[in-house]
Amino acid sequence: MSRPPIQKVTVIGAGLMGHGIAQVSAQTAGYDVSLVDVKQEFVDRGMAMIKDSLSRFVAKGFIDQAKADEVLSRIHPTLDLRGAVSSSQMVIEAATEDPKLKLDLYKRVSEFLPPGAILASNTSSISITLLASATKTPENVAGMHFFNPPQLMPLVEIIRGRKTSDSTVETVRAAAKKMDKETVLCKKDSPGFIVNRILMPSLTEATLLLEEGVADKEDIDKAVTMGLNWPMGPLKLLDYVGLDTALSIAKVITENLNDKRYKPSPLMEKMVKEGLLGRKSGRGFYDWPSPSARKS
Ligand code: 3HC
Repeated sequence: MSRPPIQKVTVIGAGLMGHGIAQVSAQTAGYDVSLVDVKQEFVDRGMAMIKDSLSRFVAKGFIDQAKADEVLSRIHPTLDLRGAVSSSQMVIEAATEDPKLKLDLYKRVSEFLPPGAILASNTSSISITLLASATKTPENVAGMHFFNPPQLMPLVEIIRGRKTSDSTVETVRAAAKKMDKETVLCKKDSPGFIVNRILMPSLTEATLLLEEGVADKEDIDKAVTMGLNWPMGPLKLLDYVGLDTALSIAKVITENLNDKRYKPSPLMEKMVKEGLLGRKSGRGFYDWPSPSARKS
């Protein structure tokens, strides 16, 4: 199927992942971007995080102020889902990691998508085949999984759903390349795909070590950064990703693989109940001062 070239992208969800994906789409790929969320305060926070990130790139001399201004002028924050989606050749969904919420959203978005437009999901664990089943064009739906922070992490996992066409996979791959990302293809739509299937048991194990009193949080993180050369320890990484997001991922993988290795720990459940979500709420295992503190 021949598709019009991608010029305009809609990113749904202005949270920790969505704002970064919108920024990379505008800054590196040069796309015109609509950044959509359900509340004005969410899009405002997303834009504030983009400004903060751009100013760090300017401070480091990676880009000049004129480029930062140009990138910002290409990102349009909006609450108008229909208006944004209906004028885009590609939609990247980075909404909250909740299967029911996403299925409702896919049904709605499907009504507004122009012919041939791609719907790519940044889901961390939910089945692409399931999400695609809520749309009228499952052949145009694929997984496009970025890593936090999308501005710096070089990988995108591409996930093929049961009905995803070859042309959709290739279009998503080309878009990721335009964003200067390396890609890997997850040929089978398996829960957690590649990275989270490997990562999640380690993160959960770190919370169990803490819960069991085996070591203090600082030593668990130090052990992994210095003993395994991870850039961040697992508890800090949990804060960074968001405990609520990690909890949802662990639950989806546990249910779908029916494998207790992925079962979230009681400590993760407790912290999420108490609102200790990590960077986005200002506190998790560690304290996280603003400006990156935000919801969802
Ligand atoms: N935009 C621009 N610059 C940024 C930035 C952003 N969003 N975030 C950080 N930076 C810059 C900082 O300004 C800093 O610059 P400097 O060195 O000149 O001061 C530099 O990056 C390093 O940042 P920090 O000093 O704050 O922290 P670190 O040295 O720890 O680096 C990191 C940050 C790149 C995030 C690094 O810690 C890292 O790679 N951590 C692991 C991240 C990871 O594993 N991500 C994957 C998570 S799993 C996932 O996302 C999947 C999902 O489905 C759960």
